[in-house]
Amino acid sequence: MNIVLGVTGGIAAYKAVLLARLFVEAGHEVHVVPTADALRFVGLPTWEAISRHPVTSSVHDDVPEVRHVALGQRADLVVVAPATANTLARMAAGLADDLLGTTLLATTAPVLVAPAMHTEMWQHAATQHNVETLRGRGIAFVGPDSGRLTGDDSGPGRMSEPTQIFAAAQSLLAGRHPHASESQIIVDQPTSDLAGLTVLVSAGGTREPIDPVRYLGNRSSGRQGVAIAAAAAARGAQVVLLSANVDASVLGEVGERSTTRVVPVGTAAELEAAARTEAAGADVIIMAAAVADYRVAEVSEGKLRKEDTGGTPPTLQLVENPDILRGLVVSRAPGQTIVGFAAETVEGEDELLERGRRKLARKGVDLLAVNAVGWIEGFESAGNTLYILDRTGEVVRRINGTKRETADGLLDSVLAVRLARDIL
Ligand code: C5P
Repeated sequence: MNIVLGVTGGIAAYKAVLLARLFVEAGHEVHVVPTADALRFVGLPTWEAISRHPVTSSVHDDVPEVRHVALGQRADLVVVAPATANTLARMAAGLADDLLGTTLLATTAPVLVAPAMHTEMWQHAATQHNVETLRGRGIAFVGPDSGRLTGDDSGPGRMSEPTQIFAAAQSLLAGRHPHASESQIIVDQPTSDLAGLTVLVSAGGTREPIDPVRYLGNRSSGRQGVAIAAAAAARGAQVVLLSANVDASVLGEVGERSTTRVVPVGTAAELEAAARTEAAGADVIIMAAAVADYRVAEVSEGKLRKEDTGGTPPTLQLVENPDILRGLVVSRAPGQTIVGFAAETVEGEDELLERGRRKLARKGVDLLAVNAVGWIEGFESAGNTLYILDRTGEVVRRINGTKRETADGLLDSVLAVRLARDIL
């Protein structure tokens, strides 16, 4: 398909390079039309190298080809990413003072817009009015997300991840959203963006035996890990799920797929052995299971009985379990992406992120998914709020939703990390 990628002058222009790359790798013809301002962020050679086509922002180049309308006429889809507040205003007004403007007026193809700007600019009445005008004309929007913005700011206004925009674009191309105005935010996942990858996921909580009938355990239901496994499989990955004491009713959510293999484990030691074996063939490792930090030093052969201790409560000697995640990071295979989880009881968001950042430094993972837990929050609930931190400690995504939605968001971030690594 013929895709015109309009890039406008925001810092998120660098992420549009990844988007262009995704389109090219999916077999599309990509013509990048940057605004003059966009070229201050990312230069012409980059766009030409990635798109494999000449690039200009001027209506005065290639005049014999009538380029100022030809690109729009030939397009099957026009994507504007990032779209600044200024660009949204220009689009709403129908201004055509550069190649992107003329292209947008000349096209009858679907148009998908990924806004990116500071929260105040996004929420300004003028911008919201322009967005409504554009939606009324059938233009589709993806995002903006809420997250880290330029400088120290964060909030709504962050451009959606390239993988999300790519997914939305594929949906439009596939005609799944013929009436784009009805689908203001398109979040359909492509069915196969993880094809060719093997994803190893751990779910549930380990149990450390005290005696044949008792154990030290935790309240992790396994729902989040199972949701990740199910989402990865739905997106085309080969999945190995290390299931630590996950209830059958929860485990059932992974369904019966030939591409998903479940390996049951009980203790941290069993999880470690299975993780080491399976990690060898994995491209992505996501350790969502809650692992007991300690195990009982000497497990009793027989059941501990009150009468045997004369009514005195027994003292359990504990020894530390290995940090499985850290071990996987240390012996990581080339190209492997490793994701950890951090469930924390905290007073507020600041403390949650602070603890997350410290854990990130200790574990050395590519991404850390952080969430708050407590007596009510987190463990057995259907929903979750996940903060995803990258290696630098930046919150690259904040996802609030069902565990399946947070799973898909996490997988989007995994893809973004892998894509950035391949390109940069
Ligand atoms: O240190 P903490 O338990 O908070 O770290 C949580 C992350 O580390 C999770 O991804 C969990 O699966 C993993 N972990 C591990 N081995 C341990 C403890 C935690 O792999 N012994």
